[in-house]
Amino acid sequence: MIRINENYLKLKASYLFSEVGRKVSLFQKDHPEADIIRLGIGDVTKALPPSIVEAFRRAVDEMGRDETFRGYGPDHGYDFLRKAIATHDFQARGAGIEADEIFVSDGAKCDTSNIQELFADDLVIAVPDPVYPVYVDSNVMAGRTGAWDDGRYGGIVYLDSTEENGFVPEPPAEPVDLVYLCFPNNPTGATATKEQLERWVEYAKRHRALILFDAAYVSFIRDERIPHSIYEIEGAREVAVEFRSFSKVAGFTGTRCAYTVVPKDCGVWDRSGNRYELHTLWARRQTTKFNGVSYPVQRAAEAVYAEAGQREVRELSDYYLENARIIRGQLAALGYASVGGENSPYIWVKTGMDSWEFFDLLLREACVVTTPGIGFGMCGDGYVRISAFNHRDRVTEAMERIRKVLVRG
Ligand code: MLT
Repeated sequence: MIRINENYLKLKASYLFSEVGRKVSLFQKDHPEADIIRLGIGDVTKALPPSIVEAFRRAVDEMGRDETFRGYGPDHGYDFLRKAIATHDFQARGAGIEADEIFVSDGAKCDTSNIQELFADDLVIAVPDPVYPVYVDSNVMAGRTGAWDDGRYGGIVYLDSTEENGFVPEPPAEPVDLVYLCFPNNPTGATATKEQLERWVEYAKRHRALILFDAAYVSFIRDERIPHSIYEIEGAREVAVEFRSFSKVAGFTGTRCAYTVVPKDCGVWDRSGNRYELHTLWARRQTTKFNGVSYPVQRAAEAVYAEAGQREVRELSDYYLENARIIRGQLAALGYASVGGENSPYIWVKTGMDSWEFFDLLLREACVVTTPGIGFGMCGDGYVRISAFNHRDRVTEAMERIRKVLVRG
């Protein structure tokens, strides 16, 4: 008899963004004439920049000629891309990461959810609350948590991220083994200072814990005092893995390219206290289960680091940040407190009511889709997340509609 992995039965019925999508489809079915504006899931809307499309096209042409055709690529990504990443994203900022510590992949979502399979079942994990649901759900699927009970899973250490701590949690008093951090944060848009990250690195060293640091939104940082990478913190090479993605940086949500950094100094232990290199284990996992990112996509990603690419992707993030500024300004004028949107494409809005109620109100009355904060965790109740990823005219139209609804009360 084929039996189910019963951990799946612990999961909430559907993934947050699927649930939001289901509600929006139902609404659209009942109101076929409604012109819905989507500021929910963080999906980019601007086209790939020209120099990146050109690199993509050239590589497709190469694939169409026997002399330049490529079959399976190198296991962990082409050297041209791994070197460009190490040089521009890390070494240029004083973070000592080498090309062979970069693992090119098709998404930070897959990597952040897959990496947990390298670790023991009985680890104690800590996640911020609110949190990107993938970190939690992947551990639930793996059986690393108890049941869902009153808004939280048993066995997880939740790190409350609230107004009081500026949405940046401090390390917990108790020891944990695996910690997920995401800065600039999804969903709150908060950023962590160097000192805050130093305390996390120090904590991880003290407890032989590992930090999984998701930096998918790094290209939105404008305040130069904010670290772009966990490896700007001394000692982080021993205790942190970092995830990055070209999705939000360069408009690759539909093109798919990302990477994970696993420094060779990162250790992991067996129950007898023997130490293993995490880098070797992740390489082993990837060579068995992953077949790489296509050559044209890696050439397109490489083009991000050329002079034209750098200028173009900066324009992309500037564009979305201007949307974020418009959203924040309009909310402030309406008397709504919000955070994020300055070094992040997400704005975290205090609604003064239940998250789903506010979500429903904006969908019903303004035909605008947001994401209910409670979907990211208990501490998200009373908030919604508004995404700045849309065309300017759609954002201004959405904010005008929201203004009318909220002014009416
Ligand atoms: C989000 O809206 O949180 C993101 O689009 C999720 C993702 O990148 O997978």
